[in-house]
Amino acid sequence: MRFYVLTLFPQVLHGALDHSITKRAQEQGLVSINCIDIRDFSGNKHRRVDDYPYGGGAGLVMRPEPVYDSYMSIKDRLKPSAKVVFLTPSGRKFSQKEAEEFAKEDDLVLICGHYEGIDQRVIDEIVTDEISIGDYILTGGEIAAIVLIDAVSRLIPGVLGADESLAFESFTDNLLEYPQYTRPQEFRGRAVPEVLLSGNHKEIEKWRHERALEITKLKRPDL
Ligand code: ADE
Repeated sequence: MRFYVLTLFPQVLHGALDHSITKRAQEQGLVSINCIDIRDFSGNKHRRVDDYPYGGGAGLVMRPEPVYDSYMSIKDRLKPSAKVVFLTPSGRKFSQKEAEEFAKEDDLVLICGHYEGIDQRVIDEIVTDEISIGDYILTGGEIAAIVLIDAVSRLIPGVLGADESLAFESFTDNLLEYPQYTRPQEFRGRAVPEVLLSGNHKEIEKWRHERALEITKLKRPDL
Protein backbone atom coordinates (compact mmCIF):
# COMPACT_ATOMS: atom_id res chain seq x y z
CA MET A 1 0.00 0.00 0.00
CA ARG A 2 1.34 3.38 -0.98
CA PHE A 3 0.13 6.36 1.07
CA TYR A 4 0.62 9.86 -0.33
CA VAL A 5 0.03 12.55 2.25
CA LEU A 6 -0.41 16.16 1.18
CA THR A 7 0.51 18.12 4.28
CA LEU A 8 2.08 21.29 5.68
CA PHE A 9 3.86 19.20 8.35
CA PRO A 10 5.54 16.11 6.84
CA GLN A 11 7.70 15.67 9.94
CA VAL A 12 4.59 15.15 12.11
CA LEU A 13 3.63 12.11 10.02
CA HIS A 14 7.12 10.63 10.10
CA GLY A 15 7.48 11.39 13.80
CA ALA A 16 4.47 9.23 14.55
CA LEU A 17 4.74 6.48 11.94
CA ASP A 18 8.48 5.79 11.73
CA HIS A 19 8.30 3.63 14.85
CA SER A 20 7.17 0.21 15.92
CA ILE A 21 4.90 -1.80 13.62
CA THR A 22 4.39 0.93 11.01
CA LYS A 23 8.16 1.40 10.81
CA ARG A 24 8.69 -2.32 10.29
CA ALA A 25 5.95 -2.36 7.62
CA GLN A 26 7.79 0.39 5.73
CA GLU A 27 11.13 -1.41 6.05
CA GLN A 28 9.56 -4.61 4.72
CA GLY A 29 8.20 -2.70 1.73
CA LEU A 30 4.60 -3.53 2.64
CA VAL A 31 3.71 0.12 3.20
CA SER A 32 5.23 3.35 1.92
CA ILE A 33 4.40 6.74 3.37
CA ASN A 34 5.19 9.52 0.95
CA CYS A 35 4.68 13.03 2.30
CA ILE A 36 4.30 15.89 -0.12
CA ASP A 37 4.91 19.31 1.44
CA ILE A 38 2.10 21.56 0.19
CA ARG A 39 4.31 24.58 0.89
CA ASP A 40 6.68 23.46 -1.87
CA PHE A 41 3.83 24.38 -4.22
CA SER A 42 3.00 27.78 -2.69
CA GLY A 43 4.18 29.60 -5.82
CA ASN A 44 5.59 32.49 -3.77
CA LYS A 45 8.88 33.18 -2.04
CA HIS A 46 7.26 33.46 1.40
CA ARG A 47 5.85 29.92 0.98
CA ARG A 48 2.41 31.21 1.92
CA VAL A 49 -0.40 28.79 1.25
CA ASP A 50 -3.30 30.59 2.97
CA ASP A 51 -5.37 33.68 2.29
CA TYR A 52 -8.38 35.59 3.64
CA PRO A 53 -11.84 34.10 3.14
CA TYR A 54 -14.13 35.66 0.54
CA GLY A 55 -17.17 37.00 2.36
CA GLY A 56 -15.14 37.80 5.46
CA GLY A 57 -15.01 36.02 8.77
CA ALA A 58 -12.33 34.82 11.13
CA GLY A 59 -9.35 32.70 10.16
CA LEU A 60 -7.55 31.91 6.95
CA VAL A 61 -8.33 29.48 4.18
CA MET A 62 -5.86 27.27 2.32
CA ARG A 63 -5.58 28.38 -1.30
CA PRO A 64 -6.63 25.84 -3.91
CA GLU A 65 -3.56 25.94 -6.21
CA PRO A 66 -0.88 24.63 -3.80
CA VAL A 67 -3.12 21.70 -2.83
CA TYR A 68 -3.97 20.97 -6.46
CA ASP A 69 -0.37 21.31 -7.66
CA SER A 70 0.94 19.03 -4.91
CA TYR A 71 -1.65 16.43 -5.97
CA MET A 72 -0.69 16.83 -9.65
CA SER A 73 2.98 16.26 -8.72
CA ILE A 74 2.14 12.64 -7.77
CA LYS A 75 -0.84 11.92 -10.02
CA ASP A 76 1.23 10.02 -12.60
CA ARG A 77 2.36 7.59 -9.90
CA LEU A 78 -1.23 6.71 -8.91
CA LYS A 79 -3.65 4.15 -10.28
CA PRO A 80 -6.42 6.04 -12.11
CA SER A 81 -8.91 4.66 -9.58
CA ALA A 82 -6.90 5.86 -6.55
CA LYS A 83 -9.01 7.38 -3.78
CA VAL A 84 -8.27 10.90 -2.62
CA VAL A 85 -9.29 11.29 1.02
CA PHE A 86 -9.76 14.67 2.68
CA LEU A 87 -9.51 14.48 6.50
CA THR A 88 -12.17 16.77 7.91
CA PRO A 89 -14.54 16.85 10.90
CA SER A 90 -17.42 17.04 8.41
CA GLY A 91 -16.51 13.74 6.75
CA ARG A 92 -18.14 10.36 7.36
CA LYS A 93 -17.03 8.67 10.56
CA PHE A 94 -13.95 6.47 10.36
CA SER A 95 -14.39 2.92 11.66
CA GLN A 96 -12.81 -0.52 11.55
CA LYS A 97 -15.06 -1.28 8.58
CA GLU A 98 -13.78 1.80 6.71
CA ALA A 99 -10.21 0.75 7.54
CA GLU A 100 -10.88 -2.69 6.03
CA GLU A 101 -12.19 -1.09 2.83
CA PHE A 102 -9.19 1.25 2.50
CA ALA A 103 -6.81 -1.67 3.13
CA LYS A 104 -7.92 -3.16 -0.22
CA GLU A 105 -6.52 -0.16 -2.14
CA ASP A 106 -3.03 0.01 -3.72
CA ASP A 107 -2.70 3.80 -3.53
CA LEU A 108 -4.31 6.21 -1.10
CA VAL A 109 -3.94 9.98 -1.19
CA LEU A 110 -4.63 11.80 2.08
CA ILE A 111 -5.13 15.56 2.27
CA CYS A 112 -4.53 17.31 5.59
CA GLY A 113 -6.25 20.66 6.01
CA HIS A 114 -5.33 23.54 8.31
CA TYR A 115 -6.60 26.96 9.30
CA GLU A 116 -10.34 27.35 8.73
CA GLY A 117 -10.33 24.87 5.87
CA ILE A 118 -9.43 24.44 2.23
CA ASP A 119 -10.93 26.32 -0.71
CA GLN A 120 -13.98 24.24 -1.66
CA ARG A 121 -13.11 24.18 -5.37
CA VAL A 122 -10.05 21.98 -4.98
CA ILE A 123 -12.08 19.61 -2.80
CA ASP A 124 -14.73 19.42 -5.51
CA GLU A 125 -12.01 18.93 -8.13
CA ILE A 126 -9.97 16.04 -6.66
CA VAL A 127 -11.45 14.57 -3.46
CA THR A 128 -13.32 11.24 -3.62
CA ASP A 129 -13.90 10.63 0.12
CA GLU A 130 -14.21 12.87 3.18
CA ILE A 131 -13.34 11.19 6.47
CA SER A 132 -13.61 12.30 10.11
CA ILE A 133 -11.95 10.40 12.94
CA GLY A 134 -14.49 11.64 15.48
CA ASP A 135 -16.74 14.44 16.61
CA TYR A 136 -14.10 16.88 17.80
CA ILE A 137 -11.98 19.51 16.08
CA LEU A 138 -8.25 18.96 15.67
CA THR A 139 -5.88 21.76 14.70
CA GLY A 140 -5.14 19.98 11.43
CA GLY A 141 -5.66 16.78 9.50
CA GLU A 142 -2.23 15.26 10.27
CA ILE A 143 -3.25 13.43 13.43
CA ALA A 144 -6.33 12.10 11.65
CA ALA A 145 -4.12 10.92 8.76
CA ILE A 146 -1.83 9.17 11.26
CA VAL A 147 -4.82 7.40 12.81
CA LEU A 148 -6.08 6.27 9.41
CA ILE A 149 -2.64 5.10 8.19
CA ASP A 150 -2.02 3.16 11.41
CA ALA A 151 -5.42 1.45 11.41
CA VAL A 152 -5.22 0.59 7.70
CA SER A 153 -1.57 -0.54 7.71
CA ARG A 154 -2.09 -3.22 10.35
CA LEU A 155 -4.76 -4.83 8.15
CA ILE A 156 -2.37 -5.30 5.23
CA PRO A 157 -1.31 -8.95 4.98
CA GLY A 158 2.13 -9.51 6.50
CA VAL A 159 2.24 -6.29 8.52
CA LEU A 160 1.34 -8.00 11.78
CA GLY A 161 3.20 -11.06 12.94
CA ALA A 162 1.28 -14.23 13.81
CA ASP A 163 1.16 -13.30 17.52
CA GLU A 164 0.04 -9.74 16.89
CA SER A 165 -2.69 -10.59 14.42
CA LEU A 166 -4.77 -12.31 17.09
CA ALA A 167 -5.13 -8.97 18.80
CA PHE A 168 -7.52 -7.47 16.27
CA GLU A 169 -9.67 -10.45 15.53
CA SER A 170 -12.04 -9.77 18.37
CA PHE A 171 -12.99 -6.30 17.12
CA THR A 172 -14.11 -7.78 13.83
CA ASP A 173 -16.92 -9.63 15.65
CA ASN A 174 -17.95 -6.32 17.24
CA LEU A 175 -16.77 -7.23 20.74
CA LEU A 176 -14.29 -5.32 22.87
CA GLU A 177 -11.19 -7.10 24.12
CA TYR A 178 -11.27 -9.35 27.17
CA PRO A 179 -8.85 -8.32 29.96
CA GLN A 180 -5.24 -9.51 29.74
CA TYR A 181 -2.83 -10.41 32.55
CA THR A 182 0.88 -11.18 32.77
CA ARG A 183 3.30 -11.79 35.64
CA PRO A 184 3.36 -11.27 38.59
CA GLN A 185 0.53 -13.56 39.68
CA GLU A 186 -0.40 -11.04 42.35
CA PHE A 187 -0.07 -7.24 42.03
CA ARG A 188 -0.94 -4.97 44.97
CA GLY A 189 -3.27 -7.59 46.38
CA ARG A 190 -5.00 -8.25 43.02
CA ALA A 191 -4.70 -11.84 41.81
CA VAL A 192 -4.81 -13.08 38.22
CA PRO A 193 -8.19 -14.84 37.66
CA GLU A 194 -7.80 -18.48 38.65
CA VAL A 195 -9.11 -19.89 35.38
CA LEU A 196 -6.19 -18.37 33.41
CA LEU A 197 -3.75 -20.45 35.50
CA SER A 198 -5.72 -23.65 35.02
CA GLY A 199 -4.26 -24.68 31.67
CA ASN A 200 -7.79 -25.66 30.59
CA HIS A 201 -7.99 -24.00 27.18
CA LYS A 202 -11.67 -24.63 26.70
CA GLU A 203 -12.51 -23.00 30.02
CA ILE A 204 -10.13 -20.10 29.30
CA GLU A 205 -11.75 -19.47 25.92
CA LYS A 206 -15.20 -19.57 27.51
CA TRP A 207 -14.14 -17.16 30.27
CA ARG A 208 -12.60 -14.73 27.76
CA HIS A 209 -15.70 -14.75 25.58
CA GLU A 210 -17.94 -14.12 28.59
CA ARG A 211 -15.74 -11.23 29.75
CA ALA A 212 -15.71 -9.74 26.24
CA LEU A 213 -19.53 -9.88 26.13
CA GLU A 214 -19.81 -8.41 29.62
CA ILE A 215 -17.36 -5.55 28.91
CA THR A 216 -18.98 -4.74 25.58
CA LYS A 217 -22.44 -4.66 27.18
CA LEU A 218 -21.17 -2.41 29.97
CA LYS A 219 -18.95 0.00 28.03
CA ARG A 220 -20.27 -0.05 24.45
CA PRO A 221 -23.80 -1.43 24.34
CA ASP A 222 -24.19 0.23 20.91
CA LEU A 223 -21.78 -2.36 19.44
N1 ADE B 1 -9.37 17.73 10.97
C1 ADE B 1 -9.74 18.43 12.06
N2 ADE B 1 -10.50 17.70 12.87
C2 ADE B 1 -10.65 16.48 12.28
C3 ADE B 1 -11.33 15.28 12.63
N3 ADE B 1 -12.05 15.18 13.73
N4 ADE B 1 -11.25 14.24 11.77
C4 ADE B 1 -10.55 14.35 10.63
N5 ADE B 1 -9.88 15.44 10.25
C5 ADE B 1 -9.92 16.51 11.07
